[in-house]
Amino acid sequence: MGFPLQRPRRLRRNAVLRALVRETELSAGRLILPLFAVPGHGVKREIEPLPGNYHLSVDRLVEEARAAQDLGIHAVLLFGLPEAKDELASEAYAAGGTVQRAVRALKRAAPSLVVITDVCGCEYTTSGHCGFLRDGYLENDASLELLQRIALSHAEAGSDMVAPAAMLDGQIQALRHALDAQGFSHLPIMAYAAKYASELYNPFFRAATNSQLAFGDKRTHQMDCANGDEAMREIALDVEEGADIVMVKPALFYLDIVARAKREFGMPLAVYNVSGEYTMMDAAARLGRLDRDAVMMEALACMRRAGADLIITYFAKRAAELLRSGTAAASAVAPPDMAAGALRSR
Ligand code: PBG
Ligand code: ZN
Repeated sequence: MGFPLQRPRRLRRNAVLRALVRETELSAGRLILPLFAVPGHGVKREIEPLPGNYHLSVDRLVEEARAAQDLGIHAVLLFGLPEAKDELASEAYAAGGTVQRAVRALKRAAPSLVVITDVCGCEYTTSGHCGFLRDGYLENDASLELLQRIALSHAEAGSDMVAPAAMLDGQIQALRHALDAQGFSHLPIMAYAAKYASELYNPFFRAATNSQLAFGDKRTHQMDCANGDEAMREIALDVEEGADIVMVKPALFYLDIVARAKREFGMPLAVYNVSGEYTMMDAAARLGRLDRDAVMMEALACMRRAGADLIITYFAKRAAELLRSGTAAASAVAPPDMAAGALRSR
């Protein structure tokens, strides 16, 4: 056997053959677009380190969500910036809070769009920490009650799925119990299950949510980047506690974790292609060192290959546009019918 009988290049001869034997595909329906709601009216302000992403008041957010849906994106992950932060994170669970108003508006304007809401305290506390502190340490069980209040306020506003992000012990069980007790037993939970303490969130808290820590770090609850077995234990706990979708975050440095998670659990699996990953690729493209669209498509395709069913990404709209237009960068990762269509139209 072997060469010259085996010639792997036979199936790489042209784009249609390559598409025919492609093992994984990227399509817009796999992408989840993060959106950032801010107070006010008529606001659309670009988030500087995440070009193409915006701070949006509720009215403009609805337009952006509709535009995403027109590109074939079925889901958004919603974050909110409060009018004011306080020790209790009280705007996080206010019925009239930014996120709660945004959810209501989105569900009215685009009923079939899946609206997922991020459940955490860190955009709302003065400290920037994810919950309540005692002597500088994030208190676990007291903070769980905060997450329960936040998730219930989202559910009452009409959220389609809640995504607890704090990496507190027992957060999935706490949310499941609270939701079930209030008549939301049908509402799925997407668990930030293996969330690492990462520098790659820097642009998110500095520019996207203005939630830089006043002191300390998040290493007492987010994971140590050196650990893989521990990620499997974290995911196992979240599955036992009732998680419907599990997430690994960040994506690119952690694709080994993604592959293990898919293999070991066979759960619906999401990855979060975080702000710093976007920034790295965007910055290299600005320097003229990498082609922006090509590196984006390759990164997203590799997340799918590693095992991600869903990709939360600031690239969602651009990638969906490219997939629709059938350009070369897109046909390298698209399903066979799309790749063939692109070839025919040349
Ligand atoms: C928590 C949350 C964070 C991110 C998403 N949800 C910040 C954190 O955990 O410190 C980071 C996402 C990104 O960097 O794109 N609300
Ligand atoms: Zn947080």
